[in-house]
Amino acid sequence: MTRRETLWHGATGIALICSFDKVARLASAPSGKPGPARRGELASPFDPFQVDLPRPPVLQPVHTTATVQRYEIAMREATAEILPGYETPIMGYQGIFPGPTIRARRGRRTVIRQTNELSDHVSVHLHGGLVPESSDGGLHDYHIAPGAARTYYYPNEQPQSTLWYHDHVHGMVGEHLNAGLTAFYVLSDADDRKYGLPSGGARDVPLMIQDRSFLDDGSFAYAQNLGAGFFGDTILVNGAIAPRMRVQRRLYRLRFLNASNARCYELVLGNNRPMHQIATDGGLLPAPVTRRRIPLAPAERAEVLVDFSQFSAGSQLILRNVIGEPSTTAVMRFDVAGKAGKRARIPKRLGKLGKLPPTAATQDVTLNFQDDPAEWQINGMGFEEDRIDWHPQLGTAEVWRFINDSEHAHPMHLHGCHFRVVAIDGKAPTGADRGWKDTVHVLPGQTIAVKPHFKQYAGRYVMHCHTAEHSDVAMMAIMEIMQ
Ligand code: C2O
Ligand code: CU
Ligand code: CU
Repeated sequence: MTRRETLWHGATGIALICSFDKVARLASAPSGKPGPARRGELASPFDPFQVDLPRPPVLQPVHTTATVQRYEIAMREATAEILPGYETPIMGYQGIFPGPTIRARRGRRTVIRQTNELSDHVSVHLHGGLVPESSDGGLHDYHIAPGAARTYYYPNEQPQSTLWYHDHVHGMVGEHLNAGLTAFYVLSDADDRKYGLPSGGARDVPLMIQDRSFLDDGSFAYAQNLGAGFFGDTILVNGAIAPRMRVQRRLYRLRFLNASNARCYELVLGNNRPMHQIATDGGLLPAPVTRRRIPLAPAERAEVLVDFSQFSAGSQLILRNVIGEPSTTAVMRFDVAGKAGKRARIPKRLGKLGKLPPTAATQDVTLNFQDDPAEWQINGMGFEEDRIDWHPQLGTAEVWRFINDSEHAHPMHLHGCHFRVVAIDGKAPTGADRGWKDTVHVLPGQTIAVKPHFKQYAGRYVMHCHTAEHSDVAMMAIMEIMQ
C-alpha cells in the first residue's frame, strides 16, 4: 500500500518510517506547507511531538440528580483534522474522535441514549462495565439499526476504574474501531480522595493509544488481516500523531488504554524511569507496583502515577513503545515545566483485592485457527449467535484455562464479570498481574488460568479475543450466567 522510506529525526534520535509519497503530497497540502519535501529539512506531519496532546471533551449530562446522570450521544460520520490540511473521515460518538469522555461516579447510575445516525448497524459496549445483558451491547439482539436509538443503563456499582466504550457489531468491529468509535468512561469513587490520587483535573490524564495508517487522501486505511490483525504505521494518542504534553512538576495519573485493533505495546518512560502502576482493568491494585515497562495488549488499561517533580523544568521525557517498528516507537512526549511543586507522595497501599469464592468448576478454553473455512475458533468452534457454551452460576467463581494452540497471541476478554489471573504457564502471577482484569493476553503456546467471579448479573454475555480481526472472524463465544 505504501512505499516506505526511512526518515531520521535528528532532535530525538528516533527513526521514523513513513511513506515518501505521503510526505511529498502533504508538503503541497491545502494548508500551504511549502514543498517539495526534502528529507530531514521539512518536518513531516508524521514526525512526533509536533502537536499538543488533545483531551477529549468530557460529555455534559442532559440531566443530573443525586442518583442518576442522563446523556445523549449521536453516532455519526464526520471528519477530523489529524494531518494538517487533510480531513480524515471518521465515525464518531458525537462526531468526534476519540469520542467524548464520560465521567461517572460509583453509586450514581449513568443512562445514555445512543442514536445511530450512521448507515451501518452499531452496538455500544461499555468495556469492563458490569451491566445488565440488555445494556451490554455484546449480543446481536441488541444492535441498533441505522436511524434507530437505544438507551443503555450503567449501574456503576463496581469500584473505580478506567473503562471505555466502543462499537461491538460482530463482523464489523475492526472497521468501526479503526473509523473512530472508541471513547473513555472513567468511573471514580471515594478511594481517589482516600489515597490522594489525582482525579478529574488536569493531572488525571486518559491516554488512548492507537495505531493507524493513512491513504494519500488523508483517510484511514483498513484491511482485514486474519493472521496478525490490522496494524497501522503511525501512533495516535487521543487522536493526535505522537503528541507532546506540557506537565507541571507535580504528581500525575496517566490512564493508559490500548484501543488499537491488534497492536500490543510495551511502554517505557524516558530513560527507563519508574512508573508506579496503581490500577489494572478492573480497578486498584493492593499497592502500587513500580515498573519500568508497561505491557498493554488490545483493550487493556493500566493506570500509573508519575512524579514529574523529580525532573527539572525543561526536561523532555519520551514515552516509547519498545516493541514497535521505527515509525511506531515514539508514543508521546512529556515536557516538564514550572516551579518545583509539592513533593509528591506515592501511596504505600491502596485498596484490597477482596476474596474470590471457591472454584465451582474448571473450563478448558482452547484457542485455535482453522484453515478451511479460514477462521479463529474457541474450543474448535467459530462464533454462532444462538449457541451457548457455558452456564456458570451467578455468585460463583470458576477457573477458565486459556490454552493458546495457535501461532498468534490473543487478548482474551470476558463480558459480564471480572477475573483474576491464577496461573501463567503454571506459575502464580506476580506484581500487576495479580490485579482485577477483564482482558488477559495469552501468548502463542501459553496457558493462562483465570478465575472469573460471576457476581453482578445473570444473563448472556460474550467472551472473545480482543484482536478485532480475530473476533470479527469468529473468535467469540457466549456464556449464560444462570440465576
Ligand atoms: Cu472491548 Cu467485547 O469488548
Ligand atoms: Cu468488553
Ligand atoms: Cu486473537
